[in-house]
Amino acid sequence: MQLRGWVFYTNALYKQSTKMTAKIIVTRKWPSVVEAELSRRYDVELNVDDVAFTDTQMRDALCSADAVLTTVTDDVGKHVFESFGGNTIRAKVIGNYGVGFSHIDIDSAIKNNIMVTNTPDVLSECTADIALTLMLMVARRAGEGERQLRSNGWEGWCPTHMIGTKVSGSTLGIVGFGRIGRETAKRARAFGMKIRVFNRSPVDPSVLSEFSAVQEGSLEQLMSSVDFLSLHCPGGSENTHLINSDNLAKMKSTAFIINTARGEIIDEEALFNALDRNQIAGAGLDVYQNEPRINSKYFVFDNVVLLPHLGSATASTREAMGFKVIQNLDQYFAGESPDNRVA
Ligand code: DGY
Repeated sequence: MQLRGWVFYTNALYKQSTKMTAKIIVTRKWPSVVEAELSRRYDVELNVDDVAFTDTQMRDALCSADAVLTTVTDDVGKHVFESFGGNTIRAKVIGNYGVGFSHIDIDSAIKNNIMVTNTPDVLSECTADIALTLMLMVARRAGEGERQLRSNGWEGWCPTHMIGTKVSGSTLGIVGFGRIGRETAKRARAFGMKIRVFNRSPVDPSVLSEFSAVQEGSLEQLMSSVDFLSLHCPGGSENTHLINSDNLAKMKSTAFIINTARGEIIDEEALFNALDRNQIAGAGLDVYQNEPRINSKYFVFDNVVLLPHLGSATASTREAMGFKVIQNLDQYFAGESPDNRVA
């Protein structure tokens, strides 16, 4: 239903009778319904094999298409823009499939007159659902329990078997109170959780009161006072290792950390140390530094739940993300400013 509504909406607004001549390159495989719509509208080169682009392929794409549609797994860093070997960049738009864009060097894009767009909003609910999933799984030892059962290790119910931590009524600290942070707070409120927030800019008091939330003055203050800490800020250089050994040491030894945002926000070595020393009770993670080659030290800890970057991975959301990219492209090629322009 959600998808049909979205398609109707985009078609009504941007229906084209003739195909646009703009050349578009898509760097990964997308949901087929979105690829079909994109191909109906533009001259499109799809990535049917779904193998991530090398730097050379990325440069070639930027030199041969009007728009390159990237995603989270692409590396469009500074180094990509540094060596075009005399070729001229043709791309005017990078339409990113995903809300996070820390894999794109925005300064280089701006220097090369390339507009960058992303896909906010449509994935907020599903990402918040995964944050709650991780919270419940790690606190109630769901991953551990399933592993025990599947390995025939369960000896039956007893009063002391696999005792976890109660989630309902506990205190949740949210780092970054944007769209996904708020969706997470909404769900947590249904579990009777108390909400505390750390956000770089002041959050409107009416928004805080909607969640009966308190905004803390510092990250350390937040980290020392909560039972769960859930990260919802952007990645990139400004937040790399925002969570580090100094502030992890401030957390309660009974508290859990949840990350559905970006891997680089947590200093992984500091997290391993904190887990080793039982400075915190556990972690629920959907994102990692150097995905998908995650550090094998994670596998040592039974009190860590590991998901493979599933935040937005539902059929309706992945399709809505694709249609959002199309909407941004249509707006750009119609001479308008795309709704989701980030640079
Ligand atoms: C994003 O959109 O940035 C997510 O990490 C992918 O769902």
